[in-house]
Amino acid sequence: MQMPTARLGMLGLGAAGQAFLPSIARSQAFRLCAVCDLSPDTASGLVYEDVAIFTSPDELFTAPGIDAVYIGTPTDMHHAHVMAALAAGKHVLVEKPMATSVADALDMAEAAEAAGLVLSVGHAHGYDLPIKMMRDIVLSGRLGRVRVVNTMCYTDWVYRPRRPDELKVELGGGVTYRQGGHQFDILNTLANDTAQTVTAATFDLDPGRSTIGAHSAMITFRNGAVGNVFYNGYGRFLSTELTDGIGEWGHEATPPERPPRAPETPEAEAAEIELKRARARGAIPSAAPYQPHFGLTLVTGEKGEMRQTRDGLLVYTTDGAEKIELPTDLTPRDLVLQDFAAAIEGSRPCLRDGRWGAAIVELCAAVVEAGRTGRRMELKHQVFQA
Ligand SMILES: NC(=O)c1ccc[n+]([C@@H]2O[C@H](COP(=O)([O-])OP(=O)(O)OC[C@H]3O[C@@H](n4cnc5c(N)ncnc54)[C@H](O)[C@@H]3O)[C@@H](O)[C@H]2O)c1
Repeated sequence: MQMPTARLGMLGLGAAGQAFLPSIARSQAFRLCAVCDLSPDTASGLVYEDVAIFTSPDELFTAPGIDAVYIGTPTDMHHAHVMAALAAGKHVLVEKPMATSVADALDMAEAAEAAGLVLSVGHAHGYDLPIKMMRDIVLSGRLGRVRVVNTMCYTDWVYRPRRPDELKVELGGGVTYRQGGHQFDILNTLANDTAQTVTAATFDLDPGRSTIGAHSAMITFRNGAVGNVFYNGYGRFLSTELTDGIGEWGHEATPPERPPRAPETPEAEAAEIELKRARARGAIPSAAPYQPHFGLTLVTGEKGEMRQTRDGLLVYTTDGAEKIELPTDLTPRDLVLQDFAAAIEGSRPCLRDGRWGAAIVELCAAVVEAGRTGRRMELKHQVFQA
């Protein structure tokens, strides 16, 4: 039976928000009724005429007839916006990372639970079909117990046009919160148990564009599995060289628009925000001919290995290498919306709920802290979906 269409409002129509528009338009489960962005110009030309346009979140949250809201504002605003949306009785889909601190993330998760509302965190690259298929193989037992998950990604993240807060770690900026969140989501999807400890190093390699621009972390799991996570956002080498030329969203990657370089002057800030706004239109494509690649993920089990490829997966055992082809008709954001809709309908629990999102924030915070202090961090808020 088809669930009745939920009426959706969107708060924040930047790069992340705009990426959801095609999936919302395709979705049978949601109808977009209203959008809200500080800048009313942002919405112009992006949404149909019958979609209300607001500039204040309160107007959106109190508008009649909205069942659920998507929140794609900057990360340091998520806590306030999610708490207000929940208080107004809305189901919430919030962008990753869900918060800038574990305390805020847990607060949001608890508020959703107390209100009996769905809080979903996404999109995250753990939703990608190759990662989901790897998880199915892990659960099938075909490769025995997972022993190691290696995930690494080299991009030009540091030098893409950014708002200043995106480089400030305390506001959820830098590659650990912004990109590591995807990697930890992949790890927690594949390791098949609860993460326990983190050791890590973080790197700020360009004083002209100071931020955490690279990290290397080792995460141990209760079942003895280990996750090795590497990210480098300095753009000199790109991991698309290791993934048959396929980039994050499943397209043949094109070289970065800007060559890696330090920013010019502080006065360039406004111009950079404008550049970011312009880039947001179409930055994340609505369909792709190949599988998405957040760098490269390889899994070692007791009885074999598997890795993602442009068409799906390769699974290596003593019998040889088996190719598994996967469909490309659903994008990761289509899958996020399916999951959100099913959770609202009550047909299955949300895959990435507030507790899951808080566990990912805890991993981000632990990597940053381990990088700062050199200490091994014990994790306390990890969750595991059997
Ligand atoms: N899942 C993904 O792959 C992905 C990709 C990019 C960004 N993100 C996440 O999405 C969030 C936003 O990042 P972005 O790159 O889209 O930023 P962005 O700057 O492109 O977009 C943010 C939007 O929010 C609007 N906004 C800010 N404050 C507001 C307020 N008080 N009321 C209404 N609108 C407001 C801004 O005008 C802007 O249009 C971040 O948390 C980021 O981590 C996720």
